[in-house]
Amino acid sequence: MQNLLIRNETPADHAAIAEVIEQAFKTQPYSSHTEQLIVAALRQENALTISLVAVLNQHIVGHIAISKVSISSNHAGWYGLGPVAVLPKWQQLGIGSALIESALAELKSMAAEGCVVLGDPSFYSKFGFQVVPELILEDVPAEYFQVLAFNKAIPPGTVKYHAAFNI
Ligand SMILES: CC(C)(COP(=O)(O)OP(=O)(O)OC[C@H]1O[C@@H](n2cnc3c(N)ncnc32)[C@H](O)[C@@H]1OP(=O)(O)O)[C@@H](O)C(=O)NCCC(=O)NCCS
Repeated sequence: MQNLLIRNETPADHAAIAEVIEQAFKTQPYSSHTEQLIVAALRQENALTISLVAVLNQHIVGHIAISKVSISSNHAGWYGLGPVAVLPKWQQLGIGSALIESALAELKSMAAEGCVVLGDPSFYSKFGFQVVPELILEDVPAEYFQVLAFNKAIPPGTVKYHAAFNI
């Protein structure tokens, strides 16, 4: 998409990011409607590893957050993707995909081991995410929890997101 800029968040973006997340999740039946609070809490806790905004004509229209996850078998270098949000008016145009691709490229450049995501399998499989038996997120249907390993090795264990996700 022409004119689309993906960049790291700055302090001046915080309010616009919260607004984008709130609007994007407003009508989602599976949403807790706390996603914008989760991102703010991750930021507060210095746990927002990656926070990218999508900018169109100087307006923030999308956002993606990446934070560390822990694995019960103590393997480090794993991250969780999300929430990811695009303003309803700008969805289905490739902005969400651009945010996801940029965030995954940044994770790879940090020599991360891999990334997990909770969400629609048909959407995230396009980026290489797949359901694997080794990694488990408790209390969710297994088909919605997917994994992308950057180094082939997938450690076994139970995954936990940062405590900010329980807000
Ligand atoms: C999920 C979300 C971030 C995706 O953002 P998006 O900008 O609409 O994503 P994309 O446009 O890249 O991809 C969405 C669809 O549009 C299609 N698409 C991508 N580029 C396209 C283009 N140029 N023209 C037409 N369709 C396109 C994609 O193939 C994809 O199709 P699919 O639904 O069959 O998989 C957005 O829908 C959203 O904010 N939803 C509410 C919040 C949410 O549910 N977040 C995810 C859970 S954390």
